[in-house]
Amino acid sequence: MNASICVQVPLADRTYDVLVGHGTVNDVASLVPRGVRRAAVVTQAGNPLVRRVDPGVPFEVLEIPDGEHHKTMATVEDLCRQFVRIGLTRADCVIGVGGGLVTDVAGFSAAVYHRGIAVVHVATTLLAMVDAAIGGKTGVNLAEGKNLVGAFWQPSGVVCDLDALATLPPRETRCGLGEMAKYHFLTGDDLLALPLPERVARCVAIKAEVVGSDEREGGRRAILNYGHTLAHALETATDHSLAHGEAVAIGLAYAARLAHELGRIDEARVAEHDRVITGAYELGNALPVGLDDALLIDLMGRDKKVVDGLTFVLDGPEGVQTVSAVPESAALAALARMPRMADRGKMQP
Ligand code: GLY
Repeated sequence: MNASICVQVPLADRTYDVLVGHGTVNDVASLVPRGVRRAAVVTQAGNPLVRRVDPGVPFEVLEIPDGEHHKTMATVEDLCRQFVRIGLTRADCVIGVGGGLVTDVAGFSAAVYHRGIAVVHVATTLLAMVDAAIGGKTGVNLAEGKNLVGAFWQPSGVVCDLDALATLPPRETRCGLGEMAKYHFLTGDDLLALPLPERVARCVAIKAEVVGSDEREGGRRAILNYGHTLAHALETATDHSLAHGEAVAIGLAYAARLAHELGRIDEARVAEHDRVITGAYELGNALPVGLDDALLIDLMGRDKKVVDGLTFVLDGPEGVQTVSAVPESAALAALARMPRMADRGKMQP
């Protein structure tokens, strides 16, 4: 074992370890369940860590295409057919090596192949380390919206190898920071004050605690979607030219304005959101130009949380909570208060 921080996701007999540190990719074999005889390593071309993955059993590397447009049922079907080709049985294992797209697709493929086989995630982006690879949400997009098909399927273990962050493009780093800013509002923690390993491990621990208390999002887990209702709508409306974490940052600024519109928080708390998002985390909080507010409302109405009218996760006197039956007029008024991006070029790396 390398020196690493081990955070547990507490799920009774399915409790698993998340290993955070430099060189933790070398510990993958320790997370592969006993009895596994072969593995499929699912990744994307050019992943810097994949050559260092050794699951301790014979394996084949399967590459999936890059880009949200390939986060589809077609990619899952193709992967599952390759699992058949390489002879993966229900006693075997998938290893997802990559960012959130890879861990979502590899995890969902593992969840449905032979009605569910083991999966280990090797998170190689900041966003996957602090969010996507942890907690067992897997899935793919439909043309109608983001992550609309999926399954809860917990991994047997997760590796967050910080070596991968050294070569991470700035835009990918910003995406991880968007999720970190979310944790800031959930806990009030000054995450940026922590050294990198402790910062990532703290985010994992925050998420692990929430997932342990409500694995299948019967209630409390929904707080992890803070900022995500508008974010998912923006990703769909911009045809994914906004990346997830960038959209989450804008979604957090919107959620603050909507909470204010509903009388849940005061102006100072809205300003605090903008300060944290744009000042501390150096992320954008402005809506892209040219988007139709009615389209965004329509897309937000298709959000997975929706059971009773427009539903958001909003800050308030008792912290961040799910709020249903939000009047469309309030959602529109909050959109009208959003800063607008003067220059879409700001979204580029
Ligand atoms: N990313 C939100 C969740 O895992 O619940």
